[in-house]
Amino acid sequence: MWSDMSVRKTEQVYQTVDWNRVIKTLDPRIKRYLVKSKKFLMKNIKGNVLVLEAGCGDGSFIDEISRQVEKVVGIDYSEKLLKEARKKLKGRKNVKLIAGNVERVRLPKNYFDYAISMWTLPNLDHPEGFIKKLKDAIKENGVIFIDTYSEKATQARIKSYTAYGLTVLGTTKDEILVKEGLTEKIYTKSKLRKLFNKLNLSLKILELTPFSYMCKAIKLPA
Ligand SMILES: C[S@@+](CC[C@H](N)C(=O)[O-])C[C@H]1O[C@@H](n2cnc3c(N)ncnc32)[C@H](O)[C@@H]1O
Repeated sequence: MWSDMSVRKTEQVYQTVDWNRVIKTLDPRIKRYLVKSKKFLMKNIKGNVLVLEAGCGDGSFIDEISRQVEKVVGIDYSEKLLKEARKKLKGRKNVKLIAGNVERVRLPKNYFDYAISMWTLPNLDHPEGFIKKLKDAIKENGVIFIDTYSEKATQARIKSYTAYGLTVLGTTKDEILVKEGLTEKIYTKSKLRKLFNKLNLSLKILELTPFSYMCKAIKLPA
């Protein structure tokens, strides 16, 4: 019944997103999750390393992390958000931004030490292809960090989306159904394990806040 209604338009939603409004209308518990994730990654990724950020949005995190690593490549399909990122990161010699869908852009293989993706997994219709792309791009024993909402965040997410101006039609056990077509999946630990195990990644799930999971996946030597 729902599948007819929710024609996928996630990319279009991000082309016109009002980012200031997204941040302003976020539930404080979700804001806390995002702050904790950033702090965690800043603590764990530093030094002479190459970093890929998939779904980098307006470049806020690249702005911080690029000050403490060798090089950062950011990818996003929202031209609107990338424009803000380019403005913010102008002149930063160790940063490269790529416009496009992570699943389709050309990336070097076995190149990065870390691939990260923050607050993006729930939006993906094809999470397996997306994560596979990150896996291919990192070196053996390289690390993928991907965070997402926990299932406890569902009501706060609905509140935030509604405050932003989206229409929430309901929920299933797997997703929040948004009339505008934005994909908003709900992950549990067991769904995350299934997803990463399929890709033969060694996974540890950290609960940095009650509303979030931080997945740390290692690419095992072939
Ligand atoms: C909720 S935002 C998070 C942005 C940023 N990571 C942050 O934490 O502020 C999700 C981002 O992922 C991007 N995105 C989602 N799916 C993508 C894909 N398949 N390829 C490229 N960008 C994608 C969106 O355009 C958006 O910028």
